[in-house]
Amino acid sequence: MARIVILTGAGISAESGLSTFRDKDGLWSKYDLEEVATPEGFYRNRRLVHDFYNARRANCAGARSNSAHEALAQLEAAFPGEVLVVTQNVDDLHRRAGSQNVIEMHGALMRACCAGCGHVWPAPMEMHPEDKCPACGQPETRPDVVWFGEIPHAMDEIGAALGRAEIFAAIGTSGQVWPAAGFVAEARAAGAQCIELNLERSEISGEFHSRHFGPASVVVPLWVDSVLAPKT
Ligand code: APR
Repeated sequence: MARIVILTGAGISAESGLSTFRDKDGLWSKYDLEEVATPEGFYRNRRLVHDFYNARRANCAGARSNSAHEALAQLEAAFPGEVLVVTQNVDDLHRRAGSQNVIEMHGALMRACCAGCGHVWPAPMEMHPEDKCPACGQPETRPDVVWFGEIPHAMDEIGAALGRAEIFAAIGTSGQVWPAAGFVAEARAAGAQCIELNLERSEISGEFHSRHFGPASVVVPLWVDSVLAPKT
C-alpha cells in the first residue's frame, strides 16, 4: 500500500514547456476558464472547447518528460507498490517518464469520452463537435478531462491513500483548487511527514512540515535522492 503519496500540479510540467494556469503568462491569463473548462462552456461552444484541448494535446505530444517526472519514476521503481502519484495534470508526462501507479484525478488529454454513453477511448490528436462516438454513434464526444463543477476521479482511493501515507509531497501546485488543495491537511491529520516542492510559496505552504523552493527539475531529484539515500 502506498506509504509515499505525491500530489503534482502544472508546475512539474512547466520545464517540459507546458503552460501552467496561474503564473503570469499562464493559460488562465489567455483563456476564460468559464468558456473552455466548464460543462456550460462546452455546451455553449463545443468547437471553441475542442480547439482549446486540441492545441494543448498538440503541445503535450510535442513535449518530453523532465528530470522531475523521471525522479518520481525512479522513486517508484526503488519502492515497488509504495509510491502513488496523484496528478492534477492532464498531460501524460508521468506515464511517459515511467511512473505506473498514477491517478489522473482531473482526467487525461490523451483520452476522449462520450457525454452520451460514457464510452472512453484514446483521443485522436484533433477532436471536432461533429465527431461521432465509436461506441454509440452520437455526436457527443468530449475530452476526458474533469471540468470545474465536475467530480474529480478516484476520490475514495485518494482519501484512503492519504489516510495511510507516511510521506506526502506536493509538487508544482498553487494549492488554489479543491479538493486537491485539502490533501495536505488530510495527510497531516493522518500523521504523514508533509513536504512542499515548488518554485515559490503557494496558498498552502504553511501547512507543510518542510518546503524546498526552486524549479521542479532541481528540487525534485534532490528530494528523491534524500528519500533513497538510506537505501543506497
Ligand atoms: N517548478 C516548480 N514549480 C513551478 C514551476 C517550476 N518550474 N513553474 C511554476 N511552478 C509553480 C507555480 O509557482 C505555482 O505554484 O507551479 C504552480 C502552478 O500553479 P497553477 O498554475 O495554479 O497549477 P495547478 O496548481 O496545477 O492548478 C490546479 O487548476 O485550473 C485547474 O484543473 C486545473 O489542474 C489544474 C488545477
